[in-house]
Amino acid sequence: MPDRGVRTPVAVGARITRFGVTERLLHWAVAALVGVETVTGAFLWAPAFSTLVSRPTATWLHLAAAVGLALAFLLAPLIGDRDALRRAARQVDRFDADDAAWLRGLPRRLLHRRARPAPPQGRFNAGQKLNAALTGGLLAVLALSGALLWQGERDTDWRLEGSVTVHDAATVALLVLVLGHIYLAVLNPATRHALQGMTRGDVDRAWAEHHHATWVAEQGAVDAPRERAVGDGSDAAADRRPARRRGAGRDR
Ligand code: HEM
Repeated sequence: MPDRGVRTPVAVGARITRFGVTERLLHWAVAALVGVETVTGAFLWAPAFSTLVSRPTATWLHLAAAVGLALAFLLAPLIGDRDALRRAARQVDRFDADDAAWLRGLPRRLLHRRARPAPPQGRFNAGQKLNAALTGGLLAVLALSGALLWQGERDTDWRLEGSVTVHDAATVALLVLVLGHIYLAVLNPATRHALQGMTRGDVDRAWAEHHHATWVAEQGAVDAPRERAVGDGSDAAADRRPARRRGAGRDR
């Protein structure tokens, strides 16, 4: 569903592939397992919940979801589309001048309706890249502090002061990020169309051109037939056609 800010008129129904099966399965597996971690973590944290789920059961589920998360990240590249994951990691990892400009202009865009539009973005905008980096970092901190807590219950030598505080603080920080992420993916009118990319795999191309103009241009999608889904998220097309459509479909 295109939002009102879209400037490039395209035929209704033109779609562009945003996420492949492996990327979507990994995303939803991580989302579900982080959900289980959050709920069971709340059971362990608040004794009031112990009437609903016993502590041993909550502990077991909490550990099982943590192992599930590790397995998801390990197995996805082994049994899924490794190239797509490597490509997505590269696209999330690369931070360029447009990303810096996007971040610099963010406060102004949030505060002033008539602020200068954001520079065109690649497959992920600077906010998404930051979100992915912080989420990954926090999951690593949670895994490490969680492993210390688990080992500390077996061997007091591993009971390090501060492990609980670090685990709790990382949980709160991750929750804030995830709630903001869900707000943008489900509620915010300008960005909620992205949910279709993570469910059915493709999005309206006009929406993509508005929010990820550089990525769409790299796909060679601008000149491709508009009636069918195009592109596979790859940057192979970018290698053939590195032209950047500056100013096309700028974000606010
Ligand atoms: C109900 C919960 C969730 C929904 C509805 C949701 C939705 C989405 C959508 C629509 C995208 C694609 C955005 C785009 O097209 O660019 C996305 C990407 C992503 N999601 Fe989620 N997500 C959820 C939970 C989570 C959780 C729990 C995590 C990790 C802890 C997570 C991590 C990510 C990351 C790292 C990306 C790529 C970067 C970004 O778009 O921020 N998501 N999610």
